[in-house]
Amino acid sequence: MITESIEKFRKTYKIVVTSGPTREFIDTIRFLSNPSTGRMGYYIAKAGINLGYKVTYIHGPVPARFGDVEDAENISVISTVDMLTEVIKQIEPYTILIMAAAPADYRPEKKFDYKLKKKENPEIKFVPNPDILNTVHEMLSDKNIPHVLLIGFAAEIQNALEYAISKLERKHLDMIFLNDLSKSGSGFGVDTNELTVIHKDKSYEKWTTDSKEKLGYRIINEIEKCWG
Ligand code: CTP
Repeated sequence: MITESIEKFRKTYKIVVTSGPTREFIDTIRFLSNPSTGRMGYYIAKAGINLGYKVTYIHGPVPARFGDVEDAENISVISTVDMLTEVIKQIEPYTILIMAAAPADYRPEKKFDYKLKKKENPEIKFVPNPDILNTVHEMLSDKNIPHVLLIGFAAEIQNALEYAISKLERKHLDMIFLNDLSKSGSGFGVDTNELTVIHKDKSYEKWTTDSKEKLGYRIINEIEKCWG
């Protein structure tokens, strides 16, 4: 049943979802990236639209089927810095930022503006990329922007719960979804996920494995249960 307060919440907040990998180019054709397909973020954005939210979907280079979401504002980016720039433009009071993307944490210090030759065998120095969630958190404090919810994901293999809780604290999140990559029905490129929702007070609930499509709705319903 949809209560009046949830109906109001859906009209008041807009959802900004990020998805997919980012690419950090080394030369004109080679890049550093990861195997994220954007599927989880795509289904969160789609669920948001179907539940009546205004949605902005910011995605890295993803397969076409997880690209644009009908009726959402769709923004395509390449690098982590591009993604940060687009996310920042979207932040205003009454925004739910759901960072389902897997942005590359490093970029080459220098991009070669031609195709490197095998014999060059260059030493490549990587520099850290900005952390999008932390940068948004700082912006919220500096500019005193109220009513913004920061939701993260943690993809972990070992000490999953411990690492996810430390990410929740380190990134000043309102909620984090742990994706345990050691489980076969979870993670990059598969249609299902085994998620654990962790709240700000560190209480958590392990959900049964479900399709990413259904989890898109469950994730938004969980946010509504806490703030709607
Ligand atoms: N994230 C972000 N900015 C980055 C990297 C990640 O905002 N530059 C977000 C992700 O979208 C996710 C959360 O932070 O919601 C956790 O991402 P993850 O890659 O698991 O964490 P890292 O910060 O990269 O930490 P570590 O490498 O130590 O696991």
